[in-house]
Amino acid sequence: MKFPISVLDHLSCKQVALLTAVVASVSAASNDSGVGQPVGGLISVRVGHSQTPFPEWLTEFTGLKEWPGIDPPYIPMDFIDFDQIPDYRSYEQGVCGANPRESCSFDCDHCVAPDDVFTCSKLSQTFDDGPSLATERLLDNLDHKTTFFNLGINIVNYPDVYKKILDGGHLVGTHTWSHPFLPSLSNEKIIAQLQWSIWAMNATGHHLPKWFRPPYGAIDNRVRAISRMFGLQAVLWDHDTFDWQLLVEDQSLRTEESIYRDIQDWKQSGTGLILEHDGAFKTVQVGINVGRILGNDQMTVAECVGGSDYIKSFQQEG
Ligand SMILES: *[C@@H]1O[C@H](CO)[C@@H](O)[C@H](O)[C@H]1NC(C)=O
Ligand SMILES: *[C@@H]1O[C@H](CO)[C@@H](O)[C@H](O)[C@H]1NC(C)=O
Ligand SMILES: [Zn+2]
Repeated sequence: MKFPISVLDHLSCKQVALLTAVVASVSAASNDSGVGQPVGGLISVRVGHSQTPFPEWLTEFTGLKEWPGIDPPYIPMDFIDFDQIPDYRSYEQGVCGANPRESCSFDCDHCVAPDDVFTCSKLSQTFDDGPSLATERLLDNLDHKTTFFNLGINIVNYPDVYKKILDGGHLVGTHTWSHPFLPSLSNEKIIAQLQWSIWAMNATGHHLPKWFRPPYGAIDNRVRAISRMFGLQAVLWDHDTFDWQLLVEDQSLRTEESIYRDIQDWKQSGTGLILEHDGAFKTVQVGINVGRILGNDQMTVAECVGGSDYIKSFQQEG
């Protein structure tokens, strides 16, 4: 299975110093569920090009001076209580059965916890894996407020796009720092993925996220326990466009037409949260078309549940 890593091909070599794609195997599941959610996000790094400056307060927390790569270091935080994290086994993507059902895995068993958000009273789009250059096109063509789940590593590399999302009045939640399959990681590595994504948002947008979408919908009660310690609330979905399948070489997986047919079906019921991706131009174009089919009467995830946009916002200095 080949995955395109050439989304930013049109940039000059100077701008694109490194481009990494997180690739995962494609699952055969084609049901409208979170189960078997497959390909990872696009991570693009423009070295030396208008990164979010590494703030002084973060150097104080971490002792570091620059943003990490795709495997961010774990920094101990006093509000993390390891005794409160249930002792479930880690597992790889698609390898289910390591833990009892009470571990409440969404990716394995489609289990949701009482505080998980997975639907909405108005059928609404959500976009994962940005910010990217494609995000800008989406923003230029959306007439309603929507929800983005951004990767920290992309936020610090596209701070201008992040700010454009905020200027448009959209809501941003975290999608981790670099899109790992969280249940496969140690507690410390899960913490690092969340804390660095939060720091990226705080350094770039001066706020702390409330909403968290686990990559691949991969969450169980171990991951939930950790995310709750950051004040995060998990957001899943009940309608999957499988738009990422348009990016893989096997064109038999999904066509644009089949996505629009599904959208028409979901429009009949009028409720739900739709999973889409703004990491690539192709899925962004689909997102624009889906927006035209659905119209602008949509809600952000916070509006869906009557919650706040962010845990906290900070005054910007000077
Ligand atoms: C798809 O859904 C049907 C009915 O809900 C179920 O019987 C079937 O096992 C599912 N298939 C996969 C691959 O999840
Ligand atoms: C967020 O940023 C502010 C500065 O704007 C800083 O004082 C605060 O400690 C940061 N908090 C976190 C959790 O990142
Ligand atoms: Zn993703």
